[in-house]
Amino acid sequence: MGRSFRQMAAAVLGIALGLSGCAPEQSARGALLAEALGCRDCHGGDLTGQKVSHDDSVVVLYASNLTRALPHYSDAAFKTVLTTGVRPDGSRLWYMDAAPYAALSDSDLGDLLAYLRTLNPTGEPHPRIRTTPRFDDLVRKGVAKPESATLAYDLANPPAATAPVDERGRYLARIYCAGCHAPSLRGFTPSQAGDPPDLAITAGYSRADFRTLLSKGEGPRGRSVGEMGEAARKRFARLPMADVDALHAYLTAWAKARGD
Ligand code: HEC
Ligand code: HEC
Repeated sequence: MGRSFRQMAAAVLGIALGLSGCAPEQSARGALLAEALGCRDCHGGDLTGQKVSHDDSVVVLYASNLTRALPHYSDAAFKTVLTTGVRPDGSRLWYMDAAPYAALSDSDLGDLLAYLRTLNPTGEPHPRIRTTPRFDDLVRKGVAKPESATLAYDLANPPAATAPVDERGRYLARIYCAGCHAPSLRGFTPSQAGDPPDLAITAGYSRADFRTLLSKGEGPRGRSVGEMGEAARKRFARLPMADVDALHAYLTAWAKARGD
């Protein structure tokens, strides 16, 4: 287990869900967040959960059935598990990020939760993580870690603010891009070809190219961008254009200000 995007299970996308019980705008924003924050990638299009591990001889791990889990969470407990990666009973979540969600504003957290509360419990709850001696060995060696173990470091090393400060773009980069491109946005190290790169690469994108990247998953002049293409189509295709432009403004200013 690691942070590799490639290990993520194939996702089923965008199933329209019945909405009730909260203001429609709030719910619509919450539904968009569930997509752009990747909840649907891991927990499945209808959020009923799915297996995300690939080798039962190491570990068996399911992303929980959120339609079944949410009724057991108070608003405060949900906020805690999402932003710390630790359940109320003290068990730590494996594989799910905490740092991007810890950066969420109260308003976005509220909209996301309001949306999740509209889901009718469907399907079976999934079993908790099942580990093996091989997995325990990886944990002992520090190769596998729950996200909560690195949260303090991640939160202490956010991407720098830029002058003139574009806080909206910085905020969006932290909640939408940091899970794969690292909390610092500089990519995780060590990295191999095909891993999410340092987002300084955005400096080479015009605003139009960047819009195409996020809305269609295509690089400049139709160039393939590997797994970023799929990530963009699944998560970012419906982002408001103002948010896409705010991301571009921040990332290009941030890349330039670094001078490395
Ligand atoms: C990279 C994959 C991934 C993403 C993205 C992800 N999750 Fe998870 N989530 C998991 C896995 C795997 C578990 C179960 C972890 C375990 O059992 O150790 C989990 C568990 C949870 C739990 C705990 C439920 C329980 O069983 O008590 C909640 C709540 C949750 N996720 C909500 C969310 C929400 C909301 C989002 C989007 C903001 C999200 N997750 C995004 C993989 C992910
Ligand atoms: C689910 C994981 C994931 C998320 C979330 C994600 N990326 Fe990526 N991104 C990748 C991967 C993987 C690559 C490298 C693809 C390759 O080189 O094959 C990449 C590459 C890129 C590239 C370089 C494309 C090129 O020119 O080759 C840019 C720019 C980029 N991402 C921007 C973003 C931005 C901006 C966000 C947030 C809005 C974001 N990414 C969120 C996984 C992700």
